[in-house]
Amino acid sequence: MDLDLATLHPAVDDPALNSMNFLNEVSQHWPDAVSLAAGRPYEEFFDDDAPGRWLDRFRRHLADDLGQDPEQVRRTLFQYGRTKGIIHHLIARNLAVDEDVHVDPEAVVVTVGCQEAMLLVLRALRAGPADVLLAVAPTYVGLTGAARLVDLPVRPVAAGPAGIDLADLRAQVRQARDEGLRPRACYVMPDFANPSGTSIGVADRRRLLDLAAEEDLLLIEDNPYGLFPAGDADRVPTLKALDTRRRVVYLGSFAKTVLPGARIGYLVADQRVGGADGAVGLFADQLAKIKSMVSVNTSPLAQAVIGGALLEHDCSLVAANRRERAAYTRNRDHLLAGLRRRFPAGSPVRWNAPAGGFFVVVTVPFPVDDVLLRRSAERYGVLWTPMAHFYDDGRPVDALRLSVSAVTPEQIDLGLDGLAALITDELTRRPAPTP
Ligand SMILES: Cc1ncc(COP(=O)(O)O)c(C=O)c1O
Repeated sequence: MDLDLATLHPAVDDPALNSMNFLNEVSQHWPDAVSLAAGRPYEEFFDDDAPGRWLDRFRRHLADDLGQDPEQVRRTLFQYGRTKGIIHHLIARNLAVDEDVHVDPEAVVVTVGCQEAMLLVLRALRAGPADVLLAVAPTYVGLTGAARLVDLPVRPVAAGPAGIDLADLRAQVRQARDEGLRPRACYVMPDFANPSGTSIGVADRRRLLDLAAEEDLLLIEDNPYGLFPAGDADRVPTLKALDTRRRVVYLGSFAKTVLPGARIGYLVADQRVGGADGAVGLFADQLAKIKSMVSVNTSPLAQAVIGGALLEHDCSLVAANRRERAAYTRNRDHLLAGLRRRFPAGSPVRWNAPAGGFFVVVTVPFPVDDVLLRRSAERYGVLWTPMAHFYDDGRPVDALRLSVSAVTPEQIDLGLDGLAALITDELTRRPAPTP
């Protein structure tokens, strides 16, 4: 039997869902091109022996610290398990140690990557056709794609130079309400956002929390990159650390800080949910019900690996990521110096200098699209990501995202040489813009 695409859920043919596939396909098609596209962690630090060691460490934790007998240990690791996960207590401890976030472990749901956490939260919030999500634009395409899957429209909020334009956020909330819509939440990445690299300052974080309270809005804070400020800069408290009113649902990922192959993320949802019968539970418990129908439970073996890694480092991933942070800082500095050298003052090419994270955005005086990316891969041997993928309106965007996380300084040099040649050729090929 053949199926007609038009009869499937519209999300399957949506640009947001095609985006990830396209970007993967380009890198597979040109495997020799230098990839300044992938937001993957640095592979040189992967340790073949670590997952086995971490698994053993977690097994000992189950026996020695939690008092499980050998049969219980085997069941915990090998059987179907608790929907909300088996390393929730270690994640709660990690949040206390690294983030000064103090939450009830029962408010933590361990998920199949942060991606599943997004899906669960959006699925729960989309109760009817009037519901909309606000998201700072440009935004992570995985969020837009997850929203598509649950038929939740995403309305952009301007980022501005401060990472979020609070006046625009308020205007968007009110505009949506004037249209009879119900803005359920605003999705934000306060630390080294993907793709913009921008961070929100602490004063604006406090203002954002106040605004959320005034406008009765939930905030979804996604924080995969917060452990990677450049150099020895201090870390800024997360929104969740500043959240005294349970306005923030916090999303976390161990993909960048421990191991992406484990596919472990989590959410913290400590909001109380009241029912018509007056019963009160945690939002996390409602989200766990959805999870039970999406992935049943997160692989206990994968959780055990991450749990062991947390235990090995006394639950501090800040300490565990010193080498990684130094490498990302070195790469970022190398990339920024390389851009300065190749595009000196007077060049029409511009870029930002994020205070950390994986990404730098380069702005050029022409639209950057997938056709140009293919040409870049084929003729210039370098991959990057068109920023258009992170906007939801299909308009041309004159910018591209470079990632410094999965490359060496030598590869950065090669990639920038290719990029500079591509940009020079494009500028020669195109008529100069009229003043
Ligand atoms: C902002 C953001 N959120 C979530 C994710 C997905 O995280 P995970 O691999 O844990 O699903 C990524 C991955 O790149 C990301 O950049």
